[in-house]
Amino acid sequence: MPARPRGGGGGGGGGGGPAPHGSRDRIVVAIDGPAASGKSSTAHLVATRAGLYHVDSGALYRAATAAQLRIQPDVSRWTEAQMQEAVALVTLVARPTAFRPMIAGADIDLEIRGPDVTRYVSLVAQMPAIRGWVNEQVRALARRHDIVVDGRDIGTVVFPDAALKVFLVADPWERARRRLIERHVRRPTDADIAEETDRLVQRDARDATQTVQAKDAILIDTTTLTQEEQVSRIVALVEAARARAAERGSDGRG
Ligand code: DC
Repeated sequence: MPARPRGGGGGGGGGGGPAPHGSRDRIVVAIDGPAASGKSSTAHLVATRAGLYHVDSGALYRAATAAQLRIQPDVSRWTEAQMQEAVALVTLVARPTAFRPMIAGADIDLEIRGPDVTRYVSLVAQMPAIRGWVNEQVRALARRHDIVVDGRDIGTVVFPDAALKVFLVADPWERARRRLIERHVRRPTDADIAEETDRLVQRDARDATQTVQAKDAILIDTTTLTQEEQVSRIVALVEAARARAAERGSDGRG
């Protein structure tokens, strides 16, 4: 039975109704790691079980890329001013256990996972103005809600004081295999996996600068774990972090 997220609904990262909690007991869980390490699906299940909202920061970079591609499909002609226009089209909308980006009020789930966005998102993620915009969106949500955020730099840059930081890793071959299965390739051959591994390793290199494990993050290698094992391990860590936060609160040190 999914737990109900604490902190009420309301999208947009800043607007919406009154927050039922004081900011003191707001909790942020950061889940970072390389591409296809299972961050988003794990974060989503953790959010559902632990009563948090899931925020996929990579989806925000993807939404900015999709919006920009709509404005100017020719990447060589992108300008900073267009990027500002593009991000202004993106809003974060509250779903039962997650905040999801939309463009001009419409769902973009398929578009942001498509090949064009995937090809150019690393480029967009290198732009300081876009990094600033994503970080602002996520921090605004954290002021109002208990959240689990997945990304690359959440525990290092966005929330260096997060109550819990997890860094997920997995062997590239296993990440590639999982990614293919996720894309409905039922029995990927070794050649398919090898090709996908190459693509992943290239993406890892493009995103390496910002994919950093925080010193105080808990490293979980999921290569031989089932999703259920990863999720229950992280949910237990969330409960322990909550108990620590509650203890600090009752000490008056919150
Ligand atoms: O996790 P993903 O594939 O959806 O991420 C999309 C892109 O955004 C990828 O190039 C990494 C980048 N990203 C980032 O730089 N920082 C984050 N916090 C999240 C994603």
